[in-house]
Amino acid sequence: MPLVEINESLQLERDLKRRMDFNRTVLVTGGSGFIGSHLVCSLVNRYPEWRIINLDYLDYCCSPRSLESVEDRTNYTFIRGDVCNPRLVNHIFNTENVDVVFHLAAKTHVASSFECPSSFQQVNVDGTRVLLAAAHQAPRRLQRFVYVSTDEVYGPSEDQVFDESSPMRPSNPYAATKAAAEYLVRSYWDQFKFPIIITRSNNVYGPRQYTEKVIPRFLTLLQVNKKCPVQGTLPQSRHFLFVSDAVDALLLVLEKGTVGEVYNMGTSFEIPIVQLARELVRMVKNVPASKVKDWVEFVPERPRVDLRYPIRSEKLQRLGWREQVSWAEGIRHTVKWYQDHPDFWSEAGEDHGGTRSPGGTAATKSP
Ligand SMILES: NC(=O)c1ccc[n+]([C@@H]2O[C@H](COP(=O)([O-])OP(=O)(O)OC[C@H]3O[C@@H](n4cnc5c(N)ncnc54)[C@H](O)[C@@H]3O)[C@@H](O)[C@H]2O)c1
Repeated sequence: MPLVEINESLQLERDLKRRMDFNRTVLVTGGSGFIGSHLVCSLVNRYPEWRIINLDYLDYCCSPRSLESVEDRTNYTFIRGDVCNPRLVNHIFNTENVDVVFHLAAKTHVASSFECPSSFQQVNVDGTRVLLAAAHQAPRRLQRFVYVSTDEVYGPSEDQVFDESSPMRPSNPYAATKAAAEYLVRSYWDQFKFPIIITRSNNVYGPRQYTEKVIPRFLTLLQVNKKCPVQGTLPQSRHFLFVSDAVDALLLVLEKGTVGEVYNMGTSFEIPIVQLARELVRMVKNVPASKVKDWVEFVPERPRVDLRYPIRSEKLQRLGWREQVSWAEGIRHTVKWYQDHPDFWSEAGEDHGGTRSPGGTAATKSP
């Protein structure tokens, strides 16, 4: 498979950067994705004395433009490759002197996980197993292995608010594979005291998120005069955390988190999906209140959509983390970004030439 593209000039560049005087090497997997690209940009900009390596397969949900602001920086290196490829991953750990891993590479779209669960199992579980084994056998002792997991491992809840000791009861293949990967990560702590930390985050939103996820999906549909499809009739709601707050939490956990521990990354902001759709209609379409409902339609849910995932984040807050970006500010910034970059994802589609998730197919014509 042509997934490993380490040609000679890239190899030379990497050799040069390896010889430069960096005091920490951080490997981010999935660093070209939504959260990963924000994390990589923050690491590259905030820590010029650290070397940041991004290992990413460049799946359909990535745009090369997400990392254009850092691609020429001397402390940034990109390796295109698959976390499931043991030869490549072992090679990276044997040659790059990695100190820290942020493991984000994953298949992440819940609906697709019902259609193709084996690819979720392969990337999310096998990929994590390959990465753990390589990091554990590496000649250089790893300082931290941060596994970026999700609130969805708890399963849905109507009333119960989950803390880190709540049992995992995942209710879709995506969440099941994230939970399985967590068990693998935890086994390395239990058996070897390998320095892992696990984070479980609420939904994250912000600029550059691929259009299969609910906020960018609604925004891009409205931009082409299509309605926001709300699935089912039950009162599903979601908690939304702005991406810079998620990145801050990950960096804080790296510095102050205790090894072997799990940290919820939650927000107090929760919104029913139908209300989210109406709010986005008001922001994008500028229509009178009486017309807002014309831009929202109810579609059958298949498979069933979980109601809500409430989590407590006191443990993370005790490390000093607080949400900095209010919903009002975060969504305004996000809406503006999608308005200012209407072609970001369609152009990325052309760059990839690959299959894209059918983000807009459930929508009907404008009212
Ligand atoms: N976005 C959220 O709301 C959210 C919430 C909680 C947890 N998470 C977790 O955070 C992580 C990142 O999420 P995201 O929203 O940025 O996802 P994303 O889908 O935008 O990015 C995933 C990245 O992983 C890469 N990838 C996929 N398969 C790969 C492989 N085999 N080898 C190397 N790279 C591969 C993709 O190319 C992409 O860059 C995931 O592990 C996800 O489970 C996300």
